[in-house]
Amino acid sequence: MSRIIEKQDLSENVVRMVLDAPAIAKKRRAGQFIILKIDEKGERVPLTIVDSDEQKGTITIIFQVVGKTTAALAKMKAGEALMDLQGPLGNPTEIENFGHVVCIGGGVGVGVVYPLAAALKKAGNRVTSIIGARNKSLLILEEEMKKVSDKLIVATDDGSYGFHGFVSAVLQNLIDSKEKIDRVYAIGPVPMMRVLCDVTKPYTIPTIVSLNSIMVDATGMCGACRVAVGGQTKFTCVDGPEFDGHQVDFAQLTNRLRMYCTQEKEAFEAHRCQCHGK
Ligand code: FES
Repeated sequence: MSRIIEKQDLSENVVRMVLDAPAIAKKRRAGQFIILKIDEKGERVPLTIVDSDEQKGTITIIFQVVGKTTAALAKMKAGEALMDLQGPLGNPTEIENFGHVVCIGGGVGVGVVYPLAAALKKAGNRVTSIIGARNKSLLILEEEMKKVSDKLIVATDDGSYGFHGFVSAVLQNLIDSKEKIDRVYAIGPVPMMRVLCDVTKPYTIPTIVSLNSIMVDATGMCGACRVAVGGQTKFTCVDGPEFDGHQVDFAQLTNRLRMYCTQEKEAFEAHRCQCHGK
């Protein structure tokens, strides 16, 4: 059982929660995730650990309401408890002083890129961060990202704030300006990560992506989270969540993520009807 200590709405449909989880807070490293279950019948949802406080015994998660479970989670309040929390899971990010790293986050992916940027900065890297959202109201963690970056560039699809356009265009501009880039971290929606990998590939800039696959057991046994990387089958839960983006088969990943769309939509609609007493 894990109690919700704090809850905050970061933007429309994006929520930040601080959870009581002393054992996880103690062990967790950047890049790792937890699996949570709200109640007995609930599905298991993987969420990246955004931050932790070992002293207070807490971890922070940020999630977007995308389906039944995240909608139910977003309705919970500080003081309430989740039935189960498992973690830290996945491999921690490889943190070294690579030189100049560019950390790119899109939408709720900014929550995932934030701990990486913080750890990379701490390791002595020069960190340029690019964060993006569809519009200004959906942008999250700008202040936090500023604190852990040497330079922060903000982009919005509709131009309501910062650069008008996609984060991939900002990265292309950076490359065109002849900035030496030693490594790129790209985290966000799959189409965004795919395009960013296409941008960096011709320049052979190592590009790491963090995949948010569908997960069931998170132990490498069920195969639900499988992804093709460099022609081999990998399991996101035990081999990832980070992979060499130039090796990921994004087309297959997109298809797998779409596999349960209908069922997810139906469950979400049923949940909404229950909540509205229909
Ligand atoms: S979630 Fe089952 S193998 Fe990864």
